[in-house]
Amino acid sequence: MSTRNLIYADNAATTQLDPAALDAMLPFLRDSYANPSSLYSFSRSVKKALQKARETVAECICATPEEIIFTSGGSESDNWVIKNFAFTAPQNRRQILTSPIEHHAILNSCAEVVRLFNCSTSYVSVDKFGIIDIDDFQAKLSKNTVGVSIMLANNEIGTIQDVKILAKLAHEHSILFHTDAVQAVGHIPVNVQELGIDMLSASAHKFNGPKGIGFLFVKQGTPLVSFVNGGQQEFARRAGTENVASIVGMATALKNNCSQMHENTLKLQKMETLFKEVISESISNVVFNGDPVHHLPGLISLSIPGASGESLLHILDLKGIAVSTGAACNSKDTEISHVLTAIQHPKDLAKGTLRISLGKNNAIADAISLANLLSHIIKKQK
Ligand SMILES: Cc1ncc(COP(=O)(O)O)c(C=O)c1O
Repeated sequence: MSTRNLIYADNAATTQLDPAALDAMLPFLRDSYANPSSLYSFSRSVKKALQKARETVAECICATPEEIIFTSGGSESDNWVIKNFAFTAPQNRRQILTSPIEHHAILNSCAEVVRLFNCSTSYVSVDKFGIIDIDDFQAKLSKNTVGVSIMLANNEIGTIQDVKILAKLAHEHSILFHTDAVQAVGHIPVNVQELGIDMLSASAHKFNGPKGIGFLFVKQGTPLVSFVNGGQQEFARRAGTENVASIVGMATALKNNCSQMHENTLKLQKMETLFKEVISESISNVVFNGDPVHHLPGLISLSIPGASGESLLHILDLKGIAVSTGAACNSKDTEISHVLTAIQHPKDLAKGTLRISLGKNNAIADAISLANLLSHIIKKQK
């Protein structure tokens, strides 16, 4: 499909590949195809590029290169963390603490370890904005808890958690803390030292890198079993010949996004404000979801009472506009989103929900056109 007339406003689902990332990848797809583990000189430049990419990724989140393990993306990283909790947990510590608004990569991994490994899961409550209830969090941290997984930024409503305080509380009970930062890395500042976390998941295609590549940050000294057994790649923690081109593309995209973060944020905030102004003026009962202050710039989740998010999506699609009703990973699921359920959205409001996620490649005019068009469609339906 041609993208010439498309207004792409589904950047939380995936992002357009950074042209610099593509340029950085091409040599490793064309000419420098050697296996980085080989011993001859042909592989030397490939091995070097892999090392450099690891250093770049580490630098972007204030980690050390040895703390970065390349994976196939967010789902793999999340699965690894939850299953690692189960594999490394002593008999008397079998509980995993998480939240009901996590991505399904976390929630379904938890369900799997409950089914297979004699673990239990506890879910901490969130308020109407999706913010973790600290009192409930503290109450649920117990001597049986082996690990905590709380996302840094939510993919449906954009709410950003105070992960620093949550990690500190978990550590007071000697409990490991993981954060799914798939929607955050490359978009908001992420400093693993400042956050004080033990593990973090990230995915390149959410920050203008290629699909099928991501990483897991694992703080030095954190117990971790190999999830993929085989060769000695990734410090003998994740076997398999490295996807060098994608890794190099990911590092390039991340470096660019991090260095442009300030200007991207200002632009996204401006687009978001303009969009919300237009919509609020024409639709009096619109509800904007997520935390009003602590949320991802440019991610707008809005609910319109009486509307159908699904039919709005299809009408916008016919006009060349790509948005989402909820999480794209879950687009086949027509049930009410688990995130909207957790923040106690009434069914009617949840059904009338759209997620508009603007990205750095959108023009200010896109946000205004989209808002005007959406207002027009909704008014016509009334
Ligand atoms: C918060 C979050 N975690 C994990 C994932 C899964 O990432 P990936 O698509 O790289 O498997 C996503 C993707 O939408 C996400 O938004």
